[in-house]
Amino acid sequence: MELKGKVGSRMKFKGKEHIVWCLNDYLGFMNHPESIKAGAKIAAKYGPSYPHSVRLSIGNTALHEELEEELKTMMNMEDAMLVNLGYQAFSSIIDALTDRHDTIIYDQNAHACLIDGVRLHNGRKFAFKHNDISHLEVQLRRASTVHDPDQGIILVIVDGLYSMSGEFAALKEIAKLKEKYNFTLFVDDSHAFGVFGENGRGTPEHLGVEKDIDVYVSTFTKAFGNIGGFVAAKEEIVTYLRYAVRSQIFSRTMPLSMVAATLKTMEIFKREPYRRQVLMQKTKMFQDGLRRLGFYIGNTQSPITPVHINGPIKTGVRVLRELRNQGIFSYLVVYPVVPKDTCLIRMVSTFNHSERDIEETLQGFNAIKEKFSVELASLSRIRV
Ligand SMILES: Cc1ncc(COP(=O)(O)O)c(C=O)c1O
Repeated sequence: MELKGKVGSRMKFKGKEHIVWCLNDYLGFMNHPESIKAGAKIAAKYGPSYPHSVRLSIGNTALHEELEEELKTMMNMEDAMLVNLGYQAFSSIIDALTDRHDTIIYDQNAHACLIDGVRLHNGRKFAFKHNDISHLEVQLRRASTVHDPDQGIILVIVDGLYSMSGEFAALKEIAKLKEKYNFTLFVDDSHAFGVFGENGRGTPEHLGVEKDIDVYVSTFTKAFGNIGGFVAAKEEIVTYLRYAVRSQIFSRTMPLSMVAATLKTMEIFKREPYRRQVLMQKTKMFQDGLRRLGFYIGNTQSPITPVHINGPIKTGVRVLRELRNQGIFSYLVVYPVVPKDTCLIRMVSTFNHSERDIEETLQGFNAIKEKFSVELASLSRIRV
């Protein structure tokens, strides 16, 4: 596949131009010329993956520290630490924060990397039904009866914004439970960081609960269109994590070329806050259009747009193929992410989609609508 032009909303696939709807490049930074230039300059001087070591050896540079300062300021947190890859880091951070005396309570739909972190835990762990606050409270009560607060913590783990449904975690209600129960709140906000909140501080800022978040993590692979990520928290937590997160201690640091590119992205992010408003306008245009055409996109609250299909995988594949014939490119999400015999096509609107992209895509959906009217007719029954 070949990305077309500098805009990145279209690509060639099997020789034909397609509009791309499956990049999490929310703010259009993935191929911003200034970020590319900043990264390329470093890569040309030092090589693409320099420094060739772990952070605690000779894998640290002034630019790594500068980006951490930027993140700390942006997030209004006491400290921030860079990580080389979100997935391995977040699992490993959960591992570092807990031992057998601690109890983990996690949303059953939390991202796979968080679930892997829970799998590493050899103490008590309880899942709660997705975004179900009364069930979370049941588990908190259960944990509180068996848990010794002098021995360890209760760590509650959630995503800030769920990547398949596009819905926020009920963070306000979760935070309110802190009045009754003593727990540490860990939020993976990879899909809302940079996108939501007046200053881009994601779901906690958007929902007004920043002070209740103890550990905030996000990747750079979504809104910042890069690689790597960070954790932000109180200074004592971050200092501890610098020496305790195994996947960071024993694995190479974030490449300097990527750090430089991300610093540049941060600069543009601060300079061009309108990108977020444009993204929201495009999202509204796209989602209103799909709803008008009769497609069921659940209760998404974000640019993540799940187009639900009431049928087995083979029906989903047919829909996907028809969309590809119309020059629309995305992918199918199937069981166990969604209930059996349903699937969804995950469409993500970005800053880079033009109005023409959206109109052509809606025309494409309109063209296939009749063929799938049975699958569409009963869609609103599906709840993911
Ligand atoms: C919610 C969430 N957390 C973590 C990750 C992992 O991030 P990375 O791509 O930096 O490994 C992803 C990526 O898909 C994600 O969606």
